[in-house]
Amino acid sequence: MNSSSETSRSLWMATATVRTAPTLDASLQVDAVIVGAGIAGLSVAYELSRAGRRVAVLDRGPLGGGMTARTTAHLASAFDDYFYEYVRLRGEREARAYFQSQSAAISRIESIQQDEGIDCDFARVDGYLSLAPGCDPRILEREFAACQQIGFVEAEWAHRSPLPGGEGMPALRFRNQGRFHPLKYLDGLVGAIEARGGRLFAETAVVGVEEKGGEVVVSTTSGHTVRAGAAIVATNSPVNDWLAMHTKQAPYRTYAIAARAQDGVMEDALFWDTLDPYHYVRLHPSSDGGGPWVIVGGEDHKTGEANDFEARFGALEAWMRRHLPGARAVEHRWSGQVMEPVDLAPFIGLNPGDKHVFIATGDSGEGITTGVVAGMLLSDLAQGKPNDWEQAYRPGRKTLRALGAFLSENATVATNFTEYVRPGAISSLDDLKPGEGAVLRDSGKKVAAYRDAGGSLHLRSAVCSHAGCIVHWNALETCWDCPCHGSHFDVDGQPLHGPAIYPLAEHKQGR
Ligand SMILES: Cc1cc2nc3c(=O)[nH]c(=O)nc-3n(C[C@H](O)[C@H](O)[C@H](O)COP(=O)(O)OP(=O)(O)OC[C@H]3O[C@@H](n4cnc5c(N)ncnc54)[C@H](O)[C@@H]3O)c2cc1C
Ligand code: FES
Repeated sequence: MNSSSETSRSLWMATATVRTAPTLDASLQVDAVIVGAGIAGLSVAYELSRAGRRVAVLDRGPLGGGMTARTTAHLASAFDDYFYEYVRLRGEREARAYFQSQSAAISRIESIQQDEGIDCDFARVDGYLSLAPGCDPRILEREFAACQQIGFVEAEWAHRSPLPGGEGMPALRFRNQGRFHPLKYLDGLVGAIEARGGRLFAETAVVGVEEKGGEVVVSTTSGHTVRAGAAIVATNSPVNDWLAMHTKQAPYRTYAIAARAQDGVMEDALFWDTLDPYHYVRLHPSSDGGGPWVIVGGEDHKTGEANDFEARFGALEAWMRRHLPGARAVEHRWSGQVMEPVDLAPFIGLNPGDKHVFIATGDSGEGITTGVVAGMLLSDLAQGKPNDWEQAYRPGRKTLRALGAFLSENATVATNFTEYVRPGAISSLDDLKPGEGAVLRDSGKKVAAYRDAGGSLHLRSAVCSHAGCIVHWNALETCWDCPCHGSHFDVDGQPLHGPAIYPLAEHKQGR
């Protein structure tokens, strides 16, 4: 199981499938074992198998069923958190490396889909950062200056937005960005890995990643193990690390809608604005002649801190109607989670304290391209080769200059622990209607209670199995979200998204 068991379905889930894989039914020995079959894990597996290495990929759910199935798949070398902030926090050299790696990631997708014959609707399009009403125009001036400083020559003043009526609007244009269908691409990667002898296993949850005598042993819930010279943990949020990495990033829920439109509803481009959280918009072609899809995303909040999805989808739709009057009825609505690193760059490289275990996490809103960067960077590192981007992404780096963000993101954990002594959202199970979930207090314990459509109760401990925070109900996805580090659990307590690997404990009423 993984987040594919959450309720909402993305446009991608409705229009493509990733091929299936068996579960691991015997122990194995390979050159490299990859945990997680999203864009990051499959990109690493692809690069290593192309380099002639024997790889095994293990996923706790269906292949491609994680956050990659819930993306909006803008492929951007422009930076959604602003390069001027990156230069301030991390310096010009690292900002330049970040830009170059993201740009290389788009080119890598372009060449892989060509080489492997993957029909994934890839196209190069321009990206526009548009000034939103009420925002300081100096944001664009600073961003343009930072782009020039780091050698991003395809950034230029556009003085227009790609939305209808956008002539004369303050905006920067970034040439040569891209877009694709993420699940069609992942399915093609799986085929290419298999064709090179790579082994892939679904519904195979990893519970241990341990270095032993110069190799790594990866253990699974079934008891079978995979031994390898290197392990790559690409589970979006690392399941091999208890706390250190999780204090350097914070989980955010983000929302997206898709509606059909007439051709020409807007320029075929990427659009995002200067609000925080920002709106992100693009078109995607449809193959059935029904007109292109308009995809609008935004309305982010810290995971577990809001449960008002109708209001958030309503706000996205109202924004779409205002700016894209040619859009028709909304046909798809979904949410997903991104991990925001406190010092802006993802963490891709050697897991701190290990010699043969690598991680890819801290995806932020650009996790598709950073997943492809992970493919190139980690395949080099796992083969003992140097890589120019290693410094920019190293997971062991100190985040001292980002102390403010570090403290404010980690305050969530302290606040959450006060929930142990606070009353629950409801005082009695009788208050729970069919289809509702809520945390309540029973015999001094916090309980995650859900009443299903048939009226049956599902009770689990509300204490997250990762590090003990209290989980919150997510009515859109019919799951429990942990605000501290972003674990998700189904109504019977089974983990759907890490870092948790174990279920919520059982709860017996009155005990
Ligand atoms: C609404 C939304 C819009 C977005 N828009 C963009 C965008 O426009 N551009 C962009 O670049 N990025 C975007 N992102 C971010 C991007 O989609 C993600 O960062 C990226 O897909 C994450 O890929 P991943 O491989 O790290 O994780 P995932 O796709 O989540 O893959 C991780 C895999 O690990 C598996 N796993 C977890 N735990 C275990 C375990 N214990 N054992 C075995 N397997 C395990 C999971 O089942 C899962 O399949 C968006 C995200 C969302 C939610
Ligand atoms: S995800 Fe860390 S405590 Fe829940």
